Parts: sequence; C-alpha cells; structure tokens
Amino acid sequence: MIIAQISDTHIALDTPDADRRIQDFAQTIADINALQPHPDVIIHTGDIVHNGRQDEYAQAVSIMAKARAPVYVMVGNKDDRANLREAFSPCGYLGANSGFIDYAIDDYPVRLIVLDTLNPGSNKGDFCRERINRFIDLIDAGSSKPIAVFTHHPPFEVSVGPDPFHFETPDIMSELRRALQHSDRVVAIFSGHVHRAASGHVERIPATVMPCIATTLRKGDYPVGMKIRPIYHLHRFDPAWGFVTETRIVGTRPSAA
Ligand SMILES: [Fe+2]
Repeated sequence: MIIAQISDTHIALDTPDADRRIQDFAQTIADINALQPHPDVIIHTGDIVHNGRQDEYAQAVSIMAKARAPVYVMVGNKDDRANLREAFSPCGYLGANSGFIDYAIDDYPVRLIVLDTLNPGSNKGDFCRERINRFIDLIDAGSSKPIAVFTHHPPFEVSVGPDPFHFETPDIMSELRRALQHSDRVVAIFSGHVHRAASGHVERIPATVMPCIATTLRKGDYPVGMKIRPIYHLHRFDPAWGFVTETRIVGTRPSAA
C-alpha cells in the first residue's frame, strides 16, 4: 500500500504568489499521477486554502479532480469547516454534518483515521473532549488492521522553528497523545502545518511532518534549483516492516518502487 501525503497548499486567489501556489499544487498532482506504481490514495493534511473561501476551494477541487488516485482532505487552521464540507461533500466520504471533520477510511490494508484539530480563528490546534471521544470511537470501531492517523497540527515538539508546540496548551497536546496510545494498532502519525520536514514520536509511535506544497511558504533553506519544486511524502506500508517514508521532489524522475 502506498499513501501520497500532500499538505499546506494554501491556495489563495489574490496574493502576489497566488499563481505559484496553484502551479505548485497542480504540478504535485501531476507528479503523483506519473508515479509507478501508482499510490493507492492521496491524503491532504490540511491548509488546503489560505482564507477558507468558497472560490479558493473551487480552485483546489479543480486541481484535485485531476488526481488518478482517490483524494481525501482534512481541515487545517486556515480552512473553514463549512466551506470545505460544501466543496468536498460530493466526494461522499465526509459523512453527516456533525461539526467536526474526522472520519476513517477502511478500503486499504491500513485503516486511515483523519482527525480535526482546527480551533477556528487560531493558528494553534485544539483537541477537545468531544473530539477525543470521537477518535476513540473511530479506533474501537475498526477491525484488527493497523491504523495510520493524520493530523494537521503535529502532536509532538518540533524543535526547529520559533515555536515548538502547535497546540493551544501543552495539556491539549498531552490529551491527544494519550488518545493516540489508546490502541497498539496505531502504527504511524502523519502531520503538516509546520511547513518543514520533521520527525518525532508519540511514545512508541513514529510521527512525521511533511514540508508544505506551497514553495513560497516553505520554511528552511533549499538550494536555488529546488526553490520552485514542491516536496511531498510517499508512505509505503509493508505488513512485516510497517511504514517507510520517501521524500519526493516534484519534477525529478519518478523512482521505481
Ligand atoms: Fe497550518
């Protein structure tokens, strides 16, 4: 099983770099489409658009419509739940409007659980008691398959950058970390938000952050030739070995797997 993770496309229509962000997103989808073997699924880990606007989501939907693999989305701090739900509800996986946008995908050897860490109006994440209970229910509702969890805000300290913690309080992050350890079946956590690559862990569970797709917003130093090349992650799952993550640079020759 191969998961292509993309994140933080921040589609905007009226910023000086708006065209670049659209191009970065479109080129990433084209790059994923050209991979052999094809990824089974694409997960966008949030901040799909920059201002939560309907017209921004329409642009994002039109780019994602070109993907060959099924695409699943989730909310980041820049997203708007209602507008995201309206834009992506025709895809059929978001379920009933319950407020939070969290769900499980059961079509693969690994169960995929997507969480909602949005705190509207804040860049930092939240994970209230209701969301904890919903997450535990999603875990318990599953079979014996291993589980990969996707969060926009990373549930571990990312010690590069100005602020290592991405939740409103340390207690909120601790509660999420506790919930992630509810079952031994949780084998990986994949996040975005930080705009640079990082890896950490939640006790025994490996956790990674991928860089943002929007190259103008990417943090960290890159050689000149890479400045307009988006970066995404491919997570390959093997039942014996678990997940192995490859960093893909858009526009380079797809590697044989
Ligand atoms: Fe974010």
